[in-house]
Amino acid sequence: MLKGVQFHLKVYTKCSNYASETCPCILAEAGHCIVCSMCRGEDYCDCYDTLTYCIYQELKNNGGKSKDQHNIIRCEIVHEKMINEIYKHLRLKVPRHVVDLLKMPGSFVFIRKNENAYYDVPISVFLTDMENETIDLIVKIIGVKTEEFKSLKKGDNLYLRGPYHNGILGIKDLSRLKGSKAAVICKGIGFIPSLGVIKTLCRDDNEVTVYLDYGTFSEELMDAFISKCNVNIREISVCDEKGNLTEEMKSVLVNETGNGCKLIHFGLSDYLLKKSVSFVKDHSSSMMISNNNNAHMCCGEGICGSCAVDKDVNTIVHLCKEQIDPYDYITMI
Ligand code: FES
Repeated sequence: MLKGVQFHLKVYTKCSNYASETCPCILAEAGHCIVCSMCRGEDYCDCYDTLTYCIYQELKNNGGKSKDQHNIIRCEIVHEKMINEIYKHLRLKVPRHVVDLLKMPGSFVFIRKNENAYYDVPISVFLTDMENETIDLIVKIIGVKTEEFKSLKKGDNLYLRGPYHNGILGIKDLSRLKGSKAAVICKGIGFIPSLGVIKTLCRDDNEVTVYLDYGTFSEELMDAFISKCNVNIREISVCDEKGNLTEEMKSVLVNETGNGCKLIHFGLSDYLLKKSVSFVKDHSSSMMISNNNNAHMCCGEGICGSCAVDKDVNTIVHLCKEQIDPYDYITMI
């Protein structure tokens, strides 16, 4: 981490990797830096939003090469529990500096049991414990890769790659909201990445109302975490069996847009996010939005293209690294 640059400053840029210990990354070395025009081979600097960290200078200082990228860490499982048929709770022992880097909202890691890197799965970090040097993850057992985690026991090892930070879109507005009013609407596992958002909003003296649709997730677990935050909690049903927003959800959105709420965070699937944000747009022209980043990620480095969406005819956004306005995001999904 660059000395003198506060950790939270990174969120004000286009790239979640900006000014981190791995910046400049391989994209800068290859002439495809998301932030720096000079690294892209232009003859002008347009780094108006990059504060005090010059990626171009850092690249030159490093002999035109990227800095060491994310190491693979072999880490021990110190606690595990199947919550129900679908979800598994894992607590991993990781180096202290990695725990520290995973504290910000939107942080995630790639984990795998198998030595084969194709088995990497991106998972949100929902709890960090500096004292015991552990992180907590919830894995949804849903396919070939995640099935591997089902049999894991305490004392087993996992491969971990990270930290990564772009798990929340709209984090710029989110991190600037202070002493105001906000709502968080989650369904099922979407609650897990949203927990960091709730904590951030509470820490910054915002009045927060959380609307939870428990879905298939553990009611008990959600309540246990949420009880640690000073928030109002309401249980709702977000959609009906056909996937349409319920009247209850619509009325929550109408009420929130009319009661002084400045920001709504959505921890929903892309399908429900699109419907919800479109509805908000019809009722408010100024509501700030943030949402869980649901992109399918593979490398997490802006290289493989699995998370890429077309912003316009000339612009591809790599959602593993790049921030994007949630209102733009819903037009691309
Ligand atoms: S996950 Fe590979 S480019 Fe984003």
